[in-house]
Amino acid sequence: MEEKLETVKKMLEKHGQEHLLTFYDRLSQEKQNQLLDEILTTDFKQIEELYEETKEKPNFEDVKLEPIAYLEKAKLPKKQLDKLTALGEDAIRHGKLAIVTMAGGQGTRLGHPGPKGTFDLGLSSHKSIFEILCDGIKRASEKYNVTIPWYLMTSDANNDETINFFEKNNYFGYPKSAVSFFKQGKLPMLDINGKILLDENGMIMQAADGHGGIFEAMRKNGIFYQMKEQGIEWVYIGGVDNVLAKMVDPVLTGLAIDEKTLIAGKSVVKANPQEKVGVFCKKDGKPSVIEYSEISKELAEARDENGELLYGESHILCNQFNLEILEKISTNRLPYHVAFKKASYLDANGNLVKPSEPNAYKFEAFLFDAFSMVDDMSILRVKREEEFAPVKNAEGVDSPETARELYKKFHNIENL
Ligand code: UD1
Repeated sequence: MEEKLETVKKMLEKHGQEHLLTFYDRLSQEKQNQLLDEILTTDFKQIEELYEETKEKPNFEDVKLEPIAYLEKAKLPKKQLDKLTALGEDAIRHGKLAIVTMAGGQGTRLGHPGPKGTFDLGLSSHKSIFEILCDGIKRASEKYNVTIPWYLMTSDANNDETINFFEKNNYFGYPKSAVSFFKQGKLPMLDINGKILLDENGMIMQAADGHGGIFEAMRKNGIFYQMKEQGIEWVYIGGVDNVLAKMVDPVLTGLAIDEKTLIAGKSVVKANPQEKVGVFCKKDGKPSVIEYSEISKELAEARDENGELLYGESHILCNQFNLEILEKISTNRLPYHVAFKKASYLDANGNLVKPSEPNAYKFEAFLFDAFSMVDDMSILRVKREEEFAPVKNAEGVDSPETARELYKKFHNIENL
């Protein structure tokens, strides 16, 4: 232990992070060991690079941006629609599709204390978001006479609670053996001087590394191996917060097969330039998404000759990958995006500071940055009222109230 402590001290000195051991003596032996291990496995060079990047602003000036081509589902000629449906159905029936739901985020904006999927949407059935998603998988499994494997990506912060919720609810009647959980990765949070923050227990403050961490997490957890064993070829990956997400869609799967693309994504028409959605585009000729937090007003408002938004294909976080490309992506590191957040931390005197203003940098990789690893991807424009009812905020736009109404309307129910 002494030797380990010395190694850690030297490492911290080299990187100007000595403060991480300030409260070391106050920790239990178990926690001391955990802290040392966490420090030893921290990639300080990466942390330093990430800190430098906080000083840069996203810059699209040197990047060639173009709108991306898409196919509108509602306008497909019947013959083509039938062809795509048949191709996709054949793959699904033969057990080639798996579903991954990314549920590692915290429902902070929603004001829900637990994992977002455990949120009761407020239907008279009191179904949680997880159950609503599971209903969709159950319906598809019955329709195609196949048990579709369902993976859930959780995080350190919500993994146990998520699993307990599934246990308590008997996996919503879906076979337990078809449901698996894996945890996404995490990264330290930094203060404005690039120092790693300590949490209230005197340990390194870690946060989920964004849903772009999914690829590495799948690899590290042996998911690719499991999927191959089961004969999976296509993997739908979606967020947890869209209660109308159509996760099993033969047209999307069929489109990728038909167009011989390794990635396919769904879009809806952007409601207005300010809507908080990312938009599909091409960056330097490669498929991409410009996130709402990073798009300029000018680009968001640009229109084409028909008066339509130039960048109007909203990314709804409903994407499908071929297993082969997922593995390839997982061996590459995606860029990190910086968010400046409020985070309570221990100061040098051991006092817990609860800031009223943002004070901490959080680093997140975005799943869609992986799109640029292929030359082209298929985009299927679907109808918002059929496939997009996000639950993001406690009130107003994209709230439980709006999602509930869309859900009821789509399922044609008054009292579900
Ligand atoms: C997201 C998309 C945006 C899209 C919109 C559609 C991002 C960064 N942006 O915005 O392009 O138009 O949805 O609704 O995703 N998650 C994890 N681990 C994490 C972070 C997030 O699993 O570390 C999951 C969340 O549980 C959620 C999903 O990813 O299911 C979306 O995350 P969130 O950060 O809420 O993205 P939005 O800002 O809503």
